[in-house]
Amino acid sequence: MVGLARPDDAGVYRLTDELALVQTVDFFTPIVDDPYTFGQVAVANALSDVYAMGGCPLTAMNIVGFPKDKLDLSVLGDILRGGQDKLREAEVALVGGHSIADPELKFGVSVTGVVHPDQLWTNLGARAGDRVVLTKPLGTGIVNTALKAKQASAEAVTASIDTMRALNRDAAEIAREFDPHACTDVTGFGLVGHAVEMLDASGLCLRIDTEALPRLPEVDRYSNQGLMPGGLHRNRDFYKERIRVEQGVAQEMLDLVFDPQTSGGLLIAVAPQDAETMVARMNTRGVSAAIIGEIIDTPDPILIELARKGT
Ligand code: CO
Ligand code: CO
Ligand code: CO
Repeated sequence: MVGLARPDDAGVYRLTDELALVQTVDFFTPIVDDPYTFGQVAVANALSDVYAMGGCPLTAMNIVGFPKDKLDLSVLGDILRGGQDKLREAEVALVGGHSIADPELKFGVSVTGVVHPDQLWTNLGARAGDRVVLTKPLGTGIVNTALKAKQASAEAVTASIDTMRALNRDAAEIAREFDPHACTDVTGFGLVGHAVEMLDASGLCLRIDTEALPRLPEVDRYSNQGLMPGGLHRNRDFYKERIRVEQGVAQEMLDLVFDPQTSGGLLIAVAPQDAETMVARMNTRGVSAAIIGEIIDTPDPILIELARKGT
């Protein structure tokens, strides 16, 4: 049902009229110093692609590359414990895995889940008038860059880690009740890159209210100091033709929308009459969701409009 034909979060394969498999895999090199936290973040990040399809993850398998000559095996134990604890929280069974000796540490999981074929959320399907909701604050790439430069405050680092290791499960569960038209999650290509994947070939445009973007503490200050990851600049170069920027949009917001996210939030297009109720329900459950814009019909090929206020 979903394969390589166009970008989406996971592969989906129909088994019966009532059941489809959802499969994804994700692994990376450490994005935090603490091994246990790294394990948690890697698993939350991989599971997110199943939630983004409207699926329910069931099983997972570890993928490990470990430099056993450089690091103590207890480091690997802590990573796996963090991953396992996160899987337990998500009620996903760890059923296997594979490890190799590798000069550079890597960890992640492959995940298998299920979805009803009629209740699958793909990246496509947003309609003019839809509101677009983002369920986690932006800025993990910027905070991480500030951390490496020893400029990040403890508050910003804690907030960034907490958001990266948070499951997108609650957000997806609540979204389900409002029948989203399209959904993806925001990761390495940043908000703009993943929004472009939702809009491509649709003839529609997302008008983002930059003032409404949820963001981590102090990201404005860090980006003003030039503390931005290389990926942010690469995303900007790659997507700049697809956006139009209105007057009055703050420079920090122009940086933030390109910031590559690790384990970012869901980006959900939902009918306008449902958006506020959905966001309120998410906020009550501790999900920092916000309405960030609206899908509009435009005659030109621009996919994203950045405005100071929505409409
Ligand atoms: Co994804
Ligand atoms: Co992914
Ligand atoms: Co998707």
